[in-house]
Amino acid sequence: MTTHLQEDKLAQRSLEVLRAGQAPSGALIASPSFDVYKFSWLRDGSFCAHALDAAGDHDAARAFHRWVARSVEAHRGLFETTLAALRAGTVPPAEAMPPTRYTLDGELEPEGDEAWPNFQLDGYGMWLWALAAHLDGAPAPDDLRPAVRLVADYLREAWGLRCFDCWEEFGGGEHASTLGAVAAGFDGAVRLLDEPGWQIDADRVRSELMERFTVGGRFKRGAQDERVDGSLLWLAVPFGVLGPDHPVIRATVDAVRRDLSGPGGGIYRYRGDTYFGGGQWLLLTSSLAWHDAVAGNTAAAIAAQDWVRAQATADGDLPEQVTGCAQTPEMIAEWVERWGPVATPLLWSHAMYLLAERALT
Ligand code: BGC
Repeated sequence: MTTHLQEDKLAQRSLEVLRAGQAPSGALIASPSFDVYKFSWLRDGSFCAHALDAAGDHDAARAFHRWVARSVEAHRGLFETTLAALRAGTVPPAEAMPPTRYTLDGELEPEGDEAWPNFQLDGYGMWLWALAAHLDGAPAPDDLRPAVRLVADYLREAWGLRCFDCWEEFGGGEHASTLGAVAAGFDGAVRLLDEPGWQIDADRVRSELMERFTVGGRFKRGAQDERVDGSLLWLAVPFGVLGPDHPVIRATVDAVRRDLSGPGGGIYRYRGDTYFGGGQWLLLTSSLAWHDAVAGNTAAAIAAQDWVRAQATADGDLPEQVTGCAQTPEMIAEWVERWGPVATPLLWSHAMYLLAERALT
């Protein structure tokens, strides 16, 4: 671990939270204190594993990747049935698609739980991206390769389908950040499977993004939705759809900063968000800091990280969002009544904090 991270108390606490949130199976729980988040999401987990790598805990990251591979293998039948249907030109119903989250034992969630909008493609792309980064360019070891191939094959057939977005909303839509994650996943597959052919898939997805997901020189959140979204921040860092200095990325990040910064500089997910009132999300504020750090905008990155640090509880736990300046405050009580107070700690808030800190070193 770098000295800078060692000196930073919140970075230390973040590493503790990530480690404590890892089950013996290797799964990373989304939040240990929020019942609805007692699962392991591929999206949250991939960023957490990447942060564990950044903080030097490669064993914990490896355990997560092995858990994903085992969970995918345990449901090989589901993936293969889905693939066969898609190859035959039939799209299975959303509820029948591979899930975005698994139980900590790698099972599908039990029937009878609140129905979850599980058909989301971004997490599978993020897993391939995070695993490729974990292996630092090396091909996947023999025991992980079959799961990697299955996931890459699934994405090749499924990436053009309409699904829920990374916020698990807007089902039946087409989402720029989802495609960014898928493109990064295909880039990862080139290295993981040592097969240059996946580059064609990555380029195809990137062309789609450029052709159908821009407006006025910047990216937009959905093919049919011109708003910006905090998740567009990931298109350059870390998904590498374009470089951080590309004019389209610059215009996108400027628009996020302009339209989605709240008082103090915390970032909203998107305008019109009502989840827990639509507050400022810590993981997005750190995502902006991560982007700014990579783009050389150090002062802005430091200011964003300062804001995140100021939202930590006395124990150093980072919530999912803070609702003091929520967009629709009248919605807060309804969510608290339904699911309890905002998830705290949220593992991927800590992960993004660590990743931005690491980029600042
Ligand atoms: C967020 C997702 C996240 C999940 C678990 C949801 O509210 O919108 O992005 O994966 O919580 O943290």
